[in-house]
Amino acid sequence: MKKFSVANQKGGVGKTTVVRHLAHSAIERGLRTLVIDLDPQGNLTRSVRATLPDPSMPADRSGAHLLFQTKVAPIPQKINENLSLFAGNRDLTAVLEWPIDCVEHARAHLASLDDQFDICLIDTPPTMCNLLFAGMICADYLAMPCDLDEDATTGLLDLADQAERIREHFNPALQLVGVLLNKVNSRRAYDQAERIALRNQWGDVILDAELQERSATKLAKKAPVWRNPRGDSDRRAAREMRAVCEAIFTKIGF
Ligand SMILES: Nc1ncnc2c1ncn2[C@@H]1O[C@H](COP(=O)(O)OP(=O)(O)OP(=O)(O)O)[C@@H](O)[C@H]1O
Ligand SMILES: [Mg+2]
Repeated sequence: MKKFSVANQKGGVGKTTVVRHLAHSAIERGLRTLVIDLDPQGNLTRSVRATLPDPSMPADRSGAHLLFQTKVAPIPQKINENLSLFAGNRDLTAVLEWPIDCVEHARAHLASLDDQFDICLIDTPPTMCNLLFAGMICADYLAMPCDLDEDATTGLLDLADQAERIREHFNPALQLVGVLLNKVNSRRAYDQAERIALRNQWGDVILDAELQERSATKLAKKAPVWRNPRGDSDRRAAREMRAVCEAIFTKIGF
């Protein structure tokens, strides 16, 4: 099982959107897919469960917080044939207070699921906290979605620094897939200049595939943006998202 995580301490940059679409894409590729929502907001959990007859019904022992302890063996909730979920909810806030060593339990629980899944996709919350670090510590691959807001691009330095520290102290295997630019408006002069500045500063770390700001992408919560596009803009949004998923899957060896 290959483990992939997104991280950015800034909110609203597209972490959940990317994980959600990677999950759809993984299922379409026939990959046995596990998603882990490490965000107490539970946004990913809500959209993944939306297909269930009773979306509000949690499954016993499927809370992602259970990964960080050994008292109860966590069991992911089966959503469909090829998709299972460790759900994010407010119970995760307790983990914020626990020593970072508790992430070793999560690694051990995930290791025990190694044969059952091909890919594990991990969403993380928008703060520099244990749960964001847990995503980096558990993952083999890390992508950093980012919009072109000055706070987000400045924050990338801190984030890359943190990833380096995690690599040194906890997870030498962590590989950076890259920075995914999201909510880009190619017609805006600021975005054009900022994109060039970022590519000069970060080089190949910035992925070629990027996502424009589009309503279809914004609205694609329950189904992927490529399902039933209704017009040119939707089709462009679909193409961009497929290209991003393709680029990420290629980078992680699928
Ligand atoms: N390319 C895009 N174009 C338009 N809207 C987008 C795009 N990408 C994401 N969004 C929208 O922006 C909002 C934030 O996206 P998302 O929830 O994926 O970000 P996030 O980084 O996970 O946020 P948080 O940090 O709060 O968890 C959502 O409403 C989402 O639908
Ligand atoms: Mg999110």
